[in-house]
Amino acid sequence: MLDVIPSGSVADYRDIFELRGGFYHQAMREYPEARASEFLNVIREAGITPGMTVVDVPSGGAYLSRYLGNVELIGLETSQTFAKLATERANSVLLYNNDRFPLQDACADRVLSIAGLHHVRDKRGLFSEMRRIVKPGGRVVVADVADDSFVKGFLDDFVGNYCETGHSGWYFDATTRSELHDAGLNIVGDKRLDYLWCAPDMHQLATFCKLLFGMVHADAGTVADGIRNYLGVSESGDQIGLNWQLHCFLCE
Ligand SMILES: C[S@@+](CC[C@H](N)C(=O)[O-])C[C@H]1O[C@@H](n2cnc3c(N)ncnc32)[C@H](O)[C@@H]1O
Repeated sequence: MLDVIPSGSVADYRDIFELRGGFYHQAMREYPEARASEFLNVIREAGITPGMTVVDVPSGGAYLSRYLGNVELIGLETSQTFAKLATERANSVLLYNNDRFPLQDACADRVLSIAGLHHVRDKRGLFSEMRRIVKPGGRVVVADVADDSFVKGFLDDFVGNYCETGHSGWYFDATTRSELHDAGLNIVGDKRLDYLWCAPDMHQLATFCKLLFGMVHADAGTVADGIRNYLGVSESGDQIGLNWQLHCFLCE
């Protein structure tokens, strides 16, 4: 079992995703539409149009590609596991290190970041790199769990209790706003995105979460109880959905 200290080094979560990236990818492959609203919400905020160059960092297994047609999509990752899994699906993901992206200045119309930055304590280097690669007039859209959000309790208390690696993060708060500003990014939008993660029934929704977060010490029934208690669920057509929320900063 890995020891995850809340104030641990940046490298901790890179190592963790080398371990549980396979489970994460399996969840996204078996339930590819579960997080559709999340991706579509961020894409809408970004105002993406055909022909644009879009950089997604960290991209995981290039899951955004399902929702973006007619753009050049470049994924950036710190995890070799994710980069390899994405490439197997014919999506190219480049590895980066030390907060230096392997991309030229002003090459991207849009830079997106979804649900990955809470793994990084000091985000200033990443934000500076986003600023460097975005074209003049382009946009940087970063979305992650807020420090005062109900989602944080689910992740750090419930998920942390049942996954092999524990869970902790440096979630979006007032410091994030300062870090964006210090990186030279101008915040033009700042909002909570509320939506559902969906599956055909509760068992499948719980199985998706169990895989995504690597909750190897919980069965699907236990995960279903955690979802109900920490997040709440609602019906959505012929699907059941759990409440999820990210905080989104739109920058120019
Ligand atoms: C929850 S996944 C999000 C991936 C993808 N954006 C998505 O929405 O599915 C978290 C991502 O953070 C990345 N990550 C973990 N630790 C990191 C670190 N220290 N620096 C940068 N990225 C890290 C992982 O490789 C993984 O891609």
